[in-house]
Amino acid sequence: MFDTTLRDGEQSPGCSLRPAQKLVMARALAELGVDVIETGFPASSASDMEATRLIAAEIQRPSLCALSRCAPGDIEAAAKALEKARRPRIHVFISTSPLHREHKLGLSRQQVLERAIEGVRLARRYVEDVEFSAEDALRTEEDFLVEVFSEAIAAGARTINVPDTVGYTTPEEIRGLFQRLIAGVRGAGQAVFSAHCHDDLGLAVANSLAAIEGGARQVECTINGIGERAGNAALEEIVMALKVRGARYGTGTGIDTRALLPASRLLSRLTGMTVQRNKAVVGANAFAHEAGIHQHGMLRNRNTYEIMRPEDVGWPASQMVLGRHSGRHAVNDRLRALGFVLEEFEFERVFAAFKKLCDHQRLVRDADLQVLVTGDPDAA
Ligand code: KIV
Ligand code: ZN
Repeated sequence: MFDTTLRDGEQSPGCSLRPAQKLVMARALAELGVDVIETGFPASSASDMEATRLIAAEIQRPSLCALSRCAPGDIEAAAKALEKARRPRIHVFISTSPLHREHKLGLSRQQVLERAIEGVRLARRYVEDVEFSAEDALRTEEDFLVEVFSEAIAAGARTINVPDTVGYTTPEEIRGLFQRLIAGVRGAGQAVFSAHCHDDLGLAVANSLAAIEGGARQVECTINGIGERAGNAALEEIVMALKVRGARYGTGTGIDTRALLPASRLLSRLTGMTVQRNKAVVGANAFAHEAGIHQHGMLRNRNTYEIMRPEDVGWPASQMVLGRHSGRHAVNDRLRALGFVLEEFEFERVFAAFKKLCDHQRLVRDADLQVLVTGDPDAA
């Protein structure tokens, strides 16, 4: 698991963090057990330089990665920022697609290839662990990708990253691409192939999982899926998909899943960017049940409507939300939990009052139930 919350995530609108805040988040990522933390793009700002240096001075276990264009100044800045890192990685990238070559870089295929090789070689002078990314890979001619990746490996790259920079691909397409790249790139066996998916079509997680099926053994993702435009693949969703459907993927992660919700909440607090209620795994509704039929099923056996345990991702428990869609079983269950064991006629009166209340308010809380039973909000 390669976490880029502090680089690709942080560079998106509304998510910027100060160096000290990045350090706090890096501690949480290390606790979570990610394998690599991308700390920033040191050549891009003094703040990214300082944040990487701060993190490198403290965080020991995960590899720490700094981003860099295939340009000497950038690579030197990345190396300087990582001086104190125990496991430093320099991540060099260059755009490879025809659109980017022509309109962004003004470079030919040959020139891009040469810069990629020079970038990897120079980065290797500073660190053993070099990652190479072909930006906009999913809109690049496949024969050129094979050529660039083969040369990057020959120049010393040990991770080959295949970014879907604009979230354009589909699961079938990326699965096939990984299979063909791993079969066709020279020296592929010496490198780990990596997926980096953006969410412009809402497919980032599905595409990352498909890339794993195609042979990717590193995925790049962010907490809460923050990132450029619609974001990056959400770490918590990939981790739980691999845990819940592990047999299908034949691989897992070393993530302590109970730390997922705390990491999500911490990032929301630091950035001020909350997640939507219905967000998978970490949204407020992820383990909340309101419909009567669902609540009834849940009270008998939680597997009826839950495929993972809330406790396993950091929630205290599932939540039975009382509202217009709730039925007798759930209301009675909550009343009993509050200490109210009612005779049948009493319960019918309370349940009728509960339904009436639901015409006026969306959610009925414990204090509301207490008033319905006793007329006193403070009664226990
Ligand atoms: O999306 C992208 O292409 C990137 C690269 C810099 C890896 O973030
Ligand atoms: Zn990206």
